[in-house]
Amino acid sequence: MGAATGVAAVLLASLAILAPSARGLNRGEFPTGFLFGAATSAYQVEGAYLEDGKGLSNWDVFTHTHSGDIDDGRNGDVADDHYHRYMEDVEIMHNLGVNSYRFSISWARILPRGKLGGINSAGIAFYDHLIDALLQKGIEPFVTLHHFDLPYELETRYGSWLGAGIREEFDHYADVCFQAFGDRVKFWTTFNEPNLFTKFAYMLGAYPPKRCSPPFGNCHSGNSQQEPYIAAHNILMSHAAAVDNYKKNYQAKQGGLIGIVISMKFYEPLTNSTEDIVAAQRALSFEIHWFLDPIFFGEYPKEMREMLSSNLPEFTPAEKMLLQNRVDFIGVNHYTAIYAKDCISSPCELNTYEGNALVFATGEKDGVRIGKPTALGGFYDVPEGMEQVIKYVNQRYENVTIYVTENGYSEYNNNNMEDMTNDTGRVNYLEGYLSCISSAIRGGAKVRGYFVWSLMDNFEWRFGFTVRFGLYHVDFVTQQRTPKKSAKWYRDFLTGSGPMGEVQTLRAYS
Ligand SMILES: *[C@@H]1O[C@H](CO)[C@@H](O)[C@H](O)[C@H]1NC(C)=O
Ligand SMILES: *[C@@H]1O[C@H](CO)[C@@H](O)[C@H](O)[C@H]1NC(C)=O
Ligand SMILES: *[C@@H]1O[C@H](CO)[C@@H](O)[C@H](O)[C@H]1NC(C)=O
Repeated sequence: MGAATGVAAVLLASLAILAPSARGLNRGEFPTGFLFGAATSAYQVEGAYLEDGKGLSNWDVFTHTHSGDIDDGRNGDVADDHYHRYMEDVEIMHNLGVNSYRFSISWARILPRGKLGGINSAGIAFYDHLIDALLQKGIEPFVTLHHFDLPYELETRYGSWLGAGIREEFDHYADVCFQAFGDRVKFWTTFNEPNLFTKFAYMLGAYPPKRCSPPFGNCHSGNSQQEPYIAAHNILMSHAAAVDNYKKNYQAKQGGLIGIVISMKFYEPLTNSTEDIVAAQRALSFEIHWFLDPIFFGEYPKEMREMLSSNLPEFTPAEKMLLQNRVDFIGVNHYTAIYAKDCISSPCELNTYEGNALVFATGEKDGVRIGKPTALGGFYDVPEGMEQVIKYVNQRYENVTIYVTENGYSEYNNNNMEDMTNDTGRVNYLEGYLSCISSAIRGGAKVRGYFVWSLMDNFEWRFGFTVRFGLYHVDFVTQQRTPKKSAKWYRDFLTGSGPMGEVQTLRAYS
């Protein structure tokens, strides 16, 4: 990558929009049964935050009590109003031609008070209707149990993931979902990006329960050097218990698969100094190995044990036993590659996402960016990073089956819909990343699905509604959904019905 990447980015940016097949990207390159979808999460799209017996979630309370921590001060009270408009949204997916939809269940909608209260039947009914409507249209539900939001009562009782009592709560919630939906849901993931949200929640103090300590931030309370690892430990054991339950009690009769989704930046050394090369490995360890080494090898990575010593919990023999249940697949959320600079040999700013690895991440080398910037700081269009990260996971984790569960491109919101729907940057991005997935598959990686983040513009956590990730534009006043150029491009790719469709058909028959 490096210099060559910069050239590639310039080339990409200067190409006019071409139909997918014109660049040699063809659905036929992907294995049969490959899932092509789009993704959302409950808090980001559902709205209806007080309706039909739903309990308050940690994010409902956080966005109301800490609106200053959200760029536009807004919240997900209404979001995309998907709770009331899900039939229209299923129709949109049908038009798009996807064969899968990745969404998350709102824990607080199903179990408003956790284990203590009863099951909210209206919550079950909502997901029943959604799942049935998807299946009617030939769209496979791909379900996340935990995508950042949980019942507020559990946040107050356990500090969310800090108290070990949360493990039984998650196990119970997962069991309720397997029982209610597992006859129709064949793809489950326990957690979305636990390696990312624990840092934002317990190290940087940017997500609820907003805990941290200097130099990472100034929160009311917390310990940035320790709590992310305690929370992660409870998450890993919650994950393991849910996988154990699914494998023992549901998998044989329901015939589904279960995995976990990890956020994966790809780190390139800033220079070819030994220090930076080792720093990039360290950053990958703190990003990827932190969760996947315990799941595959029953142990935290060596680098983390050495650097964190007693701040990193240890697995008891009983915990190691539980971890031995293999996941059926790994979900990879990948958006960007970035350079890693060593902070041991020379001091640098450490109150960042990579700070605990003593790494400083930067998108620039000698004034040249690693790829075209997007609306999110530190996120660049570097399609080769996708191939690298897939190869990396494939090699380290024994040829595991991979689903790319998120990949997408953000733009700053301006209120000009014509401009927002003319999203050529997103089309270039998706085309580049899909080509690199295709290349990784040719190289032997077992990738079996791909989900664009996101189906539609939505509430983007601490950025509120200031950035847009959707294939569909959403007008948050009227709730009107409008396909962007990228939606049309994706549909052409999936159906071969675009301007190049005839060519593809001819090729298929020649
Ligand atoms: C790598 O290091 C060598 C000297 O050790 C230098 O000449 C070369 O330019 C460096 N390459 C990159 C890509 O930084
Ligand atoms: C992974 O796949 C490669 C190539 O097919 C094979 O050589 C290797 O033994 C596999 N590794 C494991 C751990 O299954
Ligand atoms: C869309 O954007 C491209 C540049 O990215 C521009 O060349 C084109 O004219 C725009 N089309 C419309 C309809 O605005």
